[in-house]
Amino acid sequence: MERLLEIPRLLFLLLPLFGVLKSQVNPGVCRYPLGMSGGQILDEDISASSQWSESTAARYGRLDFEEGDGAWCPEITVEPDSLKEFLQIDLRSLHFITLVGTQGRHAGGIGNEFAQMYKIKYSRDGSRWISWRNRQGKQIIEGNRNAYDIVLKDLEPPIIARFVRFMPVTDHPMNVCMRVELYGCEWLDGLVSYNAPAGQQMSFKGQHVYLNDSVYDGAVGYSMTEGLGQLTDGMCGLDDFTHSHVYSVWPGYDYVGWTNESFPNNYVEIMFEFDRTRNFTTMKVHCNNMFTHRVKTFRKVVCFFRSESDWEPAPVSFSPVTDDVNPSARFVTVSLLNHMASAIKCQYYFADVWMMFSEITFQSDTAVYNTTLAPPKTGPPTSTQPGDDPTHKIDDSNTRILIGCLVAIIFILVAIIVIILWRQVWQKMLEKASRRMLDDELTASLSIQSETLTYNNNNNSSSPSEQESNSTYERIFPLGPDYQEPSRLIRKLPEFSQPTEEAGTSAASKSSQASTQEGVPHYAEADIVNLQGVTGSNTYAVPAITMDLLSGKDVAVEEFPRKLLTFKEKLGEGQFGEVHLCEAEGMQDFMDEDFASETSDSQPMLVAVKMLRADANKNARNDFLKEIKIMSRLKDPNIIRLLAVCICSDPLCMITEYMENGDLNQFLSRHEPEDLMALLSNAPTVSYSNLKYMATQIASGMKYLSSLNFVHRDLATRNCLVGKNYTIKIADFGMSRNLYSGDYYRIQGRAVLPIRWMSWESILLGKFTTASDVWAFGVTLWETLTFCKEQPYSQLTDEQVIENTGEFFRDQKRQIYLPQPAICPDALYKLMLSCWRRNTKERPSFQEIHRTLLECPD
Ligand SMILES: *[C@@H]1O[C@H](CO)[C@@H](O)[C@H](O)[C@H]1NC(C)=O
Ligand SMILES: *[C@@H]1O[C@H](CO)[C@@H](O)[C@H](O)[C@H]1NC(C)=O
Ligand SMILES: *[C@@H]1O[C@H](CO)[C@@H](O)[C@H](O)[C@H]1NC(C)=O
Ligand SMILES: *[C@@H]1O[C@H](CO)[C@@H](O)[C@H](O)[C@H]1NC(C)=O
Repeated sequence: MERLLEIPRLLFLLLPLFGVLKSQVNPGVCRYPLGMSGGQILDEDISASSQWSESTAARYGRLDFEEGDGAWCPEITVEPDSLKEFLQIDLRSLHFITLVGTQGRHAGGIGNEFAQMYKIKYSRDGSRWISWRNRQGKQIIEGNRNAYDIVLKDLEPPIIARFVRFMPVTDHPMNVCMRVELYGCEWLDGLVSYNAPAGQQMSFKGQHVYLNDSVYDGAVGYSMTEGLGQLTDGMCGLDDFTHSHVYSVWPGYDYVGWTNESFPNNYVEIMFEFDRTRNFTTMKVHCNNMFTHRVKTFRKVVCFFRSESDWEPAPVSFSPVTDDVNPSARFVTVSLLNHMASAIKCQYYFADVWMMFSEITFQSDTAVYNTTLAPPKTGPPTSTQPGDDPTHKIDDSNTRILIGCLVAIIFILVAIIVIILWRQVWQKMLEKASRRMLDDELTASLSIQSETLTYNNNNNSSSPSEQESNSTYERIFPLGPDYQEPSRLIRKLPEFSQPTEEAGTSAASKSSQASTQEGVPHYAEADIVNLQGVTGSNTYAVPAITMDLLSGKDVAVEEFPRKLLTFKEKLGEGQFGEVHLCEAEGMQDFMDEDFASETSDSQPMLVAVKMLRADANKNARNDFLKEIKIMSRLKDPNIIRLLAVCICSDPLCMITEYMENGDLNQFLSRHEPEDLMALLSNAPTVSYSNLKYMATQIASGMKYLSSLNFVHRDLATRNCLVGKNYTIKIADFGMSRNLYSGDYYRIQGRAVLPIRWMSWESILLGKFTTASDVWAFGVTLWETLTFCKEQPYSQLTDEQVIENTGEFFRDQKRQIYLPQPAICPDALYKLMLSCWRRNTKERPSFQEIHRTLLECPD
């Protein structure tokens, strides 16, 4: 049976041998995937400038593949204007490439890198590299907008090349990964370059007609050398040379033309060089014949052949019939009489003042182009040229040959089937005979094998688990349903899709409309830059689903009379605003009953006031109102609550709770563990059980946040406030405070990141999820148990911290973990370590963390 399946493949092998189907390339059909996704391009033919790790090597840059870590990624961040990084494909022979496809690194949801833009370079010989430009001269190609969708781009003009390089381009430093595919077909003409006199300019009815070769990729001076261009781009010109059917370009665009005034010998000489010595049958020249405008096909052509190093003395000469009746453009076929050559030099004689060519093709050996339409697997091939399609120009003689070939193929197939069937019958008989002899032997060897198997199982009980951990590294971890993919989320955020009438102000709906036009932010732009809210404090990341669920409810935030606020101290500031510590009179009237009961007296109350500067731009205002909306929905005893707002007049204010003991970082720094030293020095202390109590409250608050799918993104002791009796509320002002500027790492002046608290995937991939909050919780717990006496990884510089992140990613046991604090019991340290697991799915949830902390003995 297996052999029968081979027949279609045989058919493919035979077809090119017999069918003279088509003699020139048709860009509308020549759109086959060249083998990145299909595997025909071998790993060793895919190379790159660099790789981030073995699992993101060049060979993983195949479109639609999820092997390795899901794509090719260069070693370092791609900087704007540096074209150092590339992914290179060697096609082993010249190909006509009409379409390219790109995709980012998705890796089942964990990857989020892609190239927003890229350039293409190509080479036919591997030494001279040419930058691709479109017909308007632009080099940059728009790439991907997310990590998963495949984006196909037509190459106009198409490329004839053996080597192709994809070079990611960015407008700001970012991590880029790529998966690619090339579409096209083999370049059967084998033409490597043509050298010709440069095309000229015609004045026609006071209008200039530019007959130069506008896409020539070689050197252009008085003559054109070492390149290919319009004569090989598969596009035939129109009958009227002043028009072009596709491109809104200058008149004469499709043609390369010359006038006899510049050629005293009365001919134009073009030299064609080929990839190897070929047996030439014909040359077809597509010529304009608008004789009313003194343009005609050539009167005569004389072609010389060079096979080794010398030009053959005997040229081929041909004189087509000149046509003064039909002004349409046409292919003139010149028979080359099976001359062997690796270069051909032809002299085309003028029949009139002008001669214009749009295509020159060569037919050699027995190779032919496919005519059957095989669309790229990943998308429909949209033919870019509906008008003049060269497929219509098949000679009749071809049809006759075709029929002959089909008959021949049928005969051969019948013969093959007979042979196969005969061999199968024969084999069956042989097998039957031998089976009887082998039977005994086989049973013997099987029993031996099963014995060895059991033996192995008994002795290596540890090996299965080892293997498992290896394979989880190889695979990349898909995200669970609780973790959201930022780019998808942001697109779904109601604020980005439709105006909402909440928050009670017209400003809110107006500015949310404004933000709709901005488009979807990507990658780090979305996550890292937005991490810092308008007042410089951190902002929560909110999933769309939750926003939708909550959007029905009324937002119970009331306007607070500004005059009842008394400024006490500036807590911090950001680009567009400040955070002040204030006393608020009569705040109790503005609070829910359940909440007001906590504070009984009518004393002025300490509040934090986030204030937007009056001159802040519209986006900042919009973000600020969004932050109000998010904050107003958080109601948990361990989360700082929004009490009231002042949005009726500028500056916009957000009034939140503040706790008398300040933040946990400062609080713990002022205290000592309960040990002998502290007892002797009479310093204020905090007992281990109170530390644990505080950590449990942080976990509880985070449990609440994560239940709403909110991602905090900056959990740390500096963001936890301490009240009476060690009560804790999670806040978000840390980032705005100068005091803690050392905890944040500034990348290229655009964003500040708390890298020492961030998970590897947040730093490297810009991914913030509940799982990365869990990581930060581990660090916060560590801070708490060390009394915030030092920064996490204080012995490492910021750069080394980022390097260490890379080790977490590579997972080769070289990553450094925070050490076990002196007063930390083993169980708690184990909890911390579980928060820092590489695999986000293996990290505990806040529920589990909360439960573990409650169960931990004091
Ligand atoms: C013809 O089509 C097949 C796939 O249908 C492709 O593999 C082959 O490369 C094509 N040949 C040429 C010359 O384009
Ligand atoms: C061809 O002529 C046009 C019009 O003058 C010009 O813009 C273009 O650069 C020329 N191209 C080449 C390759 O010389
Ligand atoms: C160009 O061709 C025209 C028409 O054949 C002819 O009259 C004219 O003399 C030619 N000019 C030159 C310079 O050969
Ligand atoms: C070129 O091809 C033709 C037809 O296939 C053949 O008859 C001829 O012998 C070939 N010439 C050489 C030099 O191989």
